[in-house]
Amino acid sequence: MIELKNNLYWVGVKDWELKRFHGEELSTHRGSSYNSYLIRDAKTVLVDTVWGPFKEEFVSRLEQEVGLENIDLIVVNHSETDHSGALAYLMSKIPNTPIYCTQNGEKMLRKHYHQDWNFNVVKTGDSLNIGEYELVFVEMTMLHWPDSMATYVKGANVLLSNDTFGQHYATSKMFNDEVETGELYQEAIKYYANILTPFSHLVKQKIEQIKSWNLPIDLIAPSHGVIWRKDPLQIVDKYYEWSQDYHENSVVIAYDTMWEGTKKMAQAIGEGLAEQGVTVKIYNVAKKDKNDVITEIFKAKGVLLGSSTINNGILSAMAALLEEIKGLKFKNKVAAAFGSYGWSGEGVKIITQKLDEAKLQVVEDGIKFAYQPTVEELEQCKQFGRNFARHIPDRR
Ligand code: FEO
Repeated sequence: MIELKNNLYWVGVKDWELKRFHGEELSTHRGSSYNSYLIRDAKTVLVDTVWGPFKEEFVSRLEQEVGLENIDLIVVNHSETDHSGALAYLMSKIPNTPIYCTQNGEKMLRKHYHQDWNFNVVKTGDSLNIGEYELVFVEMTMLHWPDSMATYVKGANVLLSNDTFGQHYATSKMFNDEVETGELYQEAIKYYANILTPFSHLVKQKIEQIKSWNLPIDLIAPSHGVIWRKDPLQIVDKYYEWSQDYHENSVVIAYDTMWEGTKKMAQAIGEGLAEQGVTVKIYNVAKKDKNDVITEIFKAKGVLLGSSTINNGILSAMAALLEEIKGLKFKNKVAAAFGSYGWSGEGVKIITQKLDEAKLQVVEDGIKFAYQPTVEELEQCKQFGRNFARHIPDRR
């Protein structure tokens, strides 16, 4: 147990080994943590638990350090299993303990664990006096699940924000001012880009709502990664910025290639763009971590996607990337397609269609060449890059 504020403790788990999250969907290069919090007031309150594989370690620590019979109530800010995974095991030991969650939280917990627990449904603005402190509940609907909620600990000035403002980041430190800022923000923006992007309009609205309440906030304690203590609202301001078609001055060229024809095209296009002052980031999507590419696309003003044609289609790593781009609903990015082919050559047309479906703005007709591009064709690729650069404002 680590005391964060008077009588408010972190009782979570650091997962240094985690490499993939959401099944195999999301890479977590720096592990993660499942932050559970305990408040020892007139009432003892547990906020969230941890992922299932850690349930015994978690519950036995609570047993030794708190005594399970002393837990008066449990707040479930979010039913996803990385936070509720230890709940069924804990509830098997203290089965009548009241659980506070949103209406969707109750539905989801019932579907996950098939138990008729003592549910108490709360909504935004509901509060619960626990002694010196008061819990105020804030629904965070679709940030990122329908049940998501934050709990504000009035009196302690702590916002337990669950996934929002989190990072998949295992560190022996607890607070943002104790870790390297570059590392922290790399993980924070990766989390936003890969998980929260589709809900950006709701992020913006929710931040405006929370800010309008003018709550004193000393700590923002998410359910993953470090706690924001130094200038805690900095991450709120960043989220606000990220939620509004955030762009840095870069273009991502992502490709997959069979015999390096498409790779050569990618590099030549990159040269044309760089010549025009654009920061270019080039990735082979079959080799580069998909979630890192997505993070760079999130930051980029433009995206150029290339694939060889295979079996009248495109290579599988590019198909997977396009599926992800569509789901994340990126806004206000210009795009175009390129690729080499052997005989049928549908790849560029398919990528262009998928970019359209993903609502990226296709600003140039795609470019394609058979087999290996010649010197002249590579010069055309370079020109294609120069032309694309015209759609990137303020590039110098
Ligand atoms: Fe960290 Fe949506 O669970």
